[in-house]
Amino acid sequence: MKSELDDIERYYSAKIAEHGPVARGVDWKDEASQTLRFDKLSAAFIPDSTDDVADWGCGYGAYCGYLSGRFPRMGYTGIDISAEMVEAARASLGETERRRFLQADRPDRPHDWCVASGIFNVRLERDDASWLGVIHDIIDLMDAHSTKGFAFNALTSYSDADKQRDYLYYASPEDLFARCKSRYSRFVTLLHDYDLYEFTIIVRKSP
Ligand SMILES: C[S@@+](CC[C@H](N)C(=O)[O-])C[C@H]1O[C@@H](n2cnc3c(N)ncnc32)[C@H](O)[C@@H]1O
Repeated sequence: MKSELDDIERYYSAKIAEHGPVARGVDWKDEASQTLRFDKLSAAFIPDSTDDVADWGCGYGAYCGYLSGRFPRMGYTGIDISAEMVEAARASLGETERRRFLQADRPDRPHDWCVASGIFNVRLERDDASWLGVIHDIIDLMDAHSTKGFAFNALTSYSDADKQRDYLYYASPEDLFARCKSRYSRFVTLLHDYDLYEFTIIVRKSP
């Protein structure tokens, strides 16, 4: 496990200890916004897909529940740096051959898709350049661990200045879009038209 993320791990473990396995327990305002993020991240999936997904930063497994309702044939591996999150996910959802949870900072094998909701937001004390370096490294890993593509979201630099918080990171949608387009694939979608202070990028490796 990367020790450079230890403080982030402690931040999230404290959240689930305080609130339990609900949206607030993974630092989201409410379940409606959490589900809207999942809708955006899943826009490339077709309903009867049997692809498998690595949920990067799975928390207590809310996306697993979301997928089993909408894409019931997909395989799922949730990974999270927080042991408390993984324990909560296993306790509420259980594990099967097609549903696993790992305490890890990356999947143990490639998946068709890697999806990450909310892992680039909390940077705590890090300055912009070092946190952007962490984001770039993780996106490289998402690319390396996916065969069909990957998707992630981030808080947007277009957020109102008076609402921004120092311990959060607000990414440039243009810069991340350009990086994905030039580095990973020609088939990149930027979604920045929904009612949250963030955006979603989907990288597909074929059209
Ligand atoms: C904002 S929460 C979102 C949880 C879940 N994706 C959801 O939307 O319900 C972010 C989660 O990602 C985990 N996390 C943060 N950075 C990570 C990383 N680099 N690798 C794996 N897990 C990470 C945290 O422990 C936390 O549980």
